[in-house]
Amino acid sequence: MNRNTLGQEAWLSDLVTGSIDPEIRQRLSGLSSALDIGCATGLTLLNLHYAFGTPHCEGVDEISETTATNRALKMLADKGITPSEHSLEALWSIVKTDDSDVIQQITERSLFRKRLHLTYSVDACDYDCQLPEYGLVVVSNVLHYLSFTKAKRLLDKMRSVLGATSIVYVRIRTDFSHREMERMEIIGLCNQMAAEWGLRRYDHSDGVSHTFTNL
Ligand SMILES: C[S@@+](CC[C@H](N)C(=O)[O-])C[C@H]1O[C@@H](n2cnc3c(N)ncnc32)[C@H](O)[C@@H]1O
Repeated sequence: MNRNTLGQEAWLSDLVTGSIDPEIRQRLSGLSSALDIGCATGLTLLNLHYAFGTPHCEGVDEISETTATNRALKMLADKGITPSEHSLEALWSIVKTDDSDVIQQITERSLFRKRLHLTYSVDACDYDCQLPEYGLVVVSNVLHYLSFTKAKRLLDKMRSVLGATSIVYVRIRTDFSHREMERMEIIGLCNQMAAEWGLRRYDHSDGVSHTFTNL
């Protein structure tokens, strides 16, 4: 039976919406840990935790948390997008808002935030990962911002925390004018990674987004 690959599915942080391939859902639901390199607001991890119950969700980003949040809000505002029904706002709205529930709200929020291990203002290449290996390692829309040398360092970091059954998810875009690597350079680097790590490449219909994954 033909089935979708994770690369053919929606952007990883959108997997909570719509139907997804049952095998992919099963694999993601069985994860014990995930590391998101270049996690920005942590939305992908939040969704993994929310939708698939991933117990240990860890992320690192070189910008500050405030910068990450402000960028995300600006991006939404620029696009005139309102938060989806699966957004953090929607999750918070599940918690009752009357006074009697104030303690519960605070507890829910802080517990949830504590479950996401997010580290900001640290270059991922210099980051000390909390676990020796992760069930899922994500580098989504990050590599094309980097120089070739820096991207290779980041992939080395990624490789250092992969176990035999780890799921890898790397997504790149090749259309940004502010990218450091040329299109062929980044495609070449990712193809090489895919061949070495046994990943499949999926070219999205927009012609500029490419996902490399073993799921
Ligand atoms: C376009 S955003 C992608 C965010 C998220 N991964 C996604 O797919 O929506 C790229 C992120 O990578 C981060 N980044 C770039 N180079 C990095 C590095 N060397 N270490 C950590 N984070 C990095 C940036 O700060 C930015 O937040």
